[in-house]
Amino acid sequence: MMHHSLLIPILALAAGTSLAQTCGTVPNSYAYANGSPIKLPDPFTFLNGTKVVTKADWACRQDEISSIFQRYELGPLPAVESVSATFASNKLSITVTAAGGKTLSFSATVKLPSGSGPFPALIALGGVSIPVPSNVAVITYNNEEIAATDPRGKGKFFDLYGKSQTTGGLLAWAWGVSRIVDALEKLGPATTKINPARLAVTGCSRNGKGALMAGAFDKRIRLTLPQEAGSGGMGCWRIVGEMKKNGTKVEDAAQIVNGDQWFATSFTQYVNDLGKLPYDHHMLAGLVAPRPLLVIENSGIDYLGPISTYGCSTAGRLIYSALGEKEAMGLTQVAHGSSHCQLPSSQNADVAAFFDKYLLDKAGVNTDIFKTDKTYNFQLSRWVDWTAPTLG
Ligand SMILES: *[C@@H]1O[C@H](CO)[C@@H](O)[C@H](O)[C@H]1NC(C)=O
Ligand SMILES: *[C@@H]1O[C@H](CO)[C@@H](O)[C@H](O)[C@H]1NC(C)=O
Repeated sequence: MMHHSLLIPILALAAGTSLAQTCGTVPNSYAYANGSPIKLPDPFTFLNGTKVVTKADWACRQDEISSIFQRYELGPLPAVESVSATFASNKLSITVTAAGGKTLSFSATVKLPSGSGPFPALIALGGVSIPVPSNVAVITYNNEEIAATDPRGKGKFFDLYGKSQTTGGLLAWAWGVSRIVDALEKLGPATTKINPARLAVTGCSRNGKGALMAGAFDKRIRLTLPQEAGSGGMGCWRIVGEMKKNGTKVEDAAQIVNGDQWFATSFTQYVNDLGKLPYDHHMLAGLVAPRPLLVIENSGIDYLGPISTYGCSTAGRLIYSALGEKEAMGLTQVAHGSSHCQLPSSQNADVAAFFDKYLLDKAGVNTDIFKTDKTYNFQLSRWVDWTAPTLG
């Protein structure tokens, strides 16, 4: 009995502060076997075979999916003991203390609109390459300083948790975003002029992958706007794999783990055997759901895997439909050739609609946006052999 009362706070700490694990962790002995040809795993069935039928079940399944992503692909999301912050001269200075008392400090640059606020804010990994409404603050964060793309183990995250920490760069970057949210909550709008309940996250390319992880792993992020994240973002590994087999020069799982340290060391053993993964990236959308998500993609760069981001988003949106929130997930995919991370003006209205409805609370905005400028021979039934229930 004594053990019980001791165990509970320790587990709560180990699960992290931003996504408390309440149910559905992966059993140690778990082994998944996909059929042939491999398909996208069913988001609506727990690993133990039980069906997801209610919204409460889905919340529980999200915990399981979070745990799956950490185990197979991203590495563990470590806990923090406390966060302190100051705000002065457009600079948010954050100090994080880990269990054991070790600390790290980093900062983010804040650009506030004129006026007294409180303003919604967009947290940008690296920099911003989408148009931002004038009444939205921008917080820019140097994620590479937290975890370098290369070599593994370089960056403040590893100074804090140790060089042997197996977490990949993407989840370390998401961890950094969560600490910015901690700081904004702690200081409050009276100090920062920022409303911590109206936050968005963005980034492009590798930083788009990181932005998607930030939205997926922190429920305090209201709006997630990954841009040209491609393969490793809203691309599903299995569809990317088939594109590669078909001769498209796309960055597949086997290639992505060579050189760039974005994924956990544990992922490498699966990159040539994707059918063993009990998830794919459609379920990353499922971690964000039902919070708003606009996938901004470029159909003109094969390397990003355009059919895969389209197909994976199509499957991911079925989860939003099941939750009765189809319009909260959009896809806008336009070819703009080699001008990677330069949003064509034809996509401006789509981005603006998501800001207007979900960050600025404007009424009557249509976000039923799901479009590509390409004609794909994409058969959903080739990849999806499950149906999306209406979750009660
Ligand atoms: C399966 O796992 C889920 C999530 O942990 C749990 O709620 C459910 O009760 C489990 N079902 C069975 C039959 O054990
Ligand atoms: C790969 O090629 C086959 C045969 O043309 C086609 O049916 C399939 O849709 C292609 N897959 C992808 C992901 O493009």
